[in-house]
Amino acid sequence: MKICMMGTGYVGLVSGACFAETGNEVVCADVDEDKIRRLRAGDIVIFEPGLGPMVERNVASGRLSFSSDVPAAIAGAEVVFVAVGTPPRSDGAADLSAVDRVAETVVKYVAGPLVLVLKSTVPVGTNARVRRIVKDAPYPVQVVSNPEFLKEGDAVSDFLRPDRIVVGCDADDHHAREIMRRLYHPVCLASDRMVWMDPPSAELSKYVANTLLAMRISFMNEVAWLCEKVGADIHHVRHGVGSDARIGPRFLYAGPGYGGSCFPKDVVALVSAGREHGVEMELAGATDRVNQRQKGALARKLKQIFEGDLRGKCIGVWGIAFKPRTDDIREAPALALIEALLSEGAMVRAHDPQAAAAARERFGGRIALCEDAYEAARDADALVLVTEWRQYQNPDFPRLRQLMRRPVLLDGRNIWSGYGLRAQGFHYEGIGVKGS
Ligand SMILES: NC(=O)c1ccc[n+]([C@@H]2O[C@H](COP(=O)([O-])OP(=O)(O)OC[C@H]3O[C@@H](n4cnc5c(N)ncnc54)[C@H](O)[C@@H]3O)[C@@H](O)[C@H]2O)c1
Repeated sequence: MKICMMGTGYVGLVSGACFAETGNEVVCADVDEDKIRRLRAGDIVIFEPGLGPMVERNVASGRLSFSSDVPAAIAGAEVVFVAVGTPPRSDGAADLSAVDRVAETVVKYVAGPLVLVLKSTVPVGTNARVRRIVKDAPYPVQVVSNPEFLKEGDAVSDFLRPDRIVVGCDADDHHAREIMRRLYHPVCLASDRMVWMDPPSAELSKYVANTLLAMRISFMNEVAWLCEKVGADIHHVRHGVGSDARIGPRFLYAGPGYGGSCFPKDVVALVSAGREHGVEMELAGATDRVNQRQKGALARKLKQIFEGDLRGKCIGVWGIAFKPRTDDIREAPALALIEALLSEGAMVRAHDPQAAAAARERFGGRIALCEDAYEAARDADALVLVTEWRQYQNPDFPRLRQLMRRPVLLDGRNIWSGYGLRAQGFHYEGIGVKGS
């Protein structure tokens, strides 16, 4: 099938490469000419495990190409996916201007019957809105909602082995249904993962999934504060509740707050959608408020450790990406921590295995970015672990103790809580844990 992927970001590039991998002819198009130029030159532009070799072999086979000639990419396609960004507006609602622009471009350049698939996360009602835009197109354009559920860091494997593929289209849209069924057939061989529904339900499913996951995290972060007050340990509480089959163990980890390009914006977009329709989404609102507060937790703890004065302190930061196995720093808890430290007059030495370039762009010369993790700890008054990259799991603690000016470890992910670090001379603190 001939596919045009509009928007070549984390979702568009992964989806485009995976559709090419399963035999389709894919043009990944983007208005960002620099990105397209780099992709054409063989630079993968994002870090995502397994993506590089897949892009390379599909480009080599001629099934995958990159273009900033958006009209030509649309004209040659049977299916156009919309994978452009939908960032938050200042009132929390999703900014749909890029989605609208794609729909308007489709009206202008469509050269035959087309299925237009909304893969971006868009508020309920967007499918209907896009239908209104494309109804004047010179050829029939069927609009389908197909929200994406991949996770950065596991995006390729999530796409090829999905838990489910949600498709929102009208029951009598036989052509669009058949196209979607064929596109996803290769990833449904072991079991049929297609979940069919009407477009508004598909649109809402994505927001509800992200908000529910974010809610679990915020709830556990709130419980972690209570643990610290009452002498309980969030590890034990997590095991105690997560072993209940009705609850399950995932997304129950206390930490420095959730980040990334999805959870924060999707939670507030759900609140905003509720407001627009006269339904107050109280739990979603509370989830966001708890997270905002949690993003200040590491800075607050450091301030407490240094008796309110961080001026001139050198703080090492391990991990800047919003989670391991990605270079994405959008809304990362490390950003809030670093900004707070700088505004308190501290100096920051940071390390991240993949996100250093993005951090350099964001902070310029305001922080020192170190090539080596131990360099970030050199002469530090404290070392804060923010992102649990595997390489930070088992560091050489005696070496850290030697390198650091003061042996203060603040473990934002509770990964060292069982290591007996206090007995090794460290001041250790986690989030709601008693151990170490
Ligand atoms: N990143 C994730 O993990 C993830 C997961 C599921 C869903 N989503 C959703 O998918 C959508 C895309 O997310 P992303 O992280 O890939 O964003 P991104 O910012 O990485 O990529 C978006 C791309 O769209 C391009 N673009 C903007 N306007 C365009 C236009 N008019 N025509 C063509 N290209 C245009 C941008 O230049 C950019 O390259 C968002 O709605 C997001 O909420 C993201």
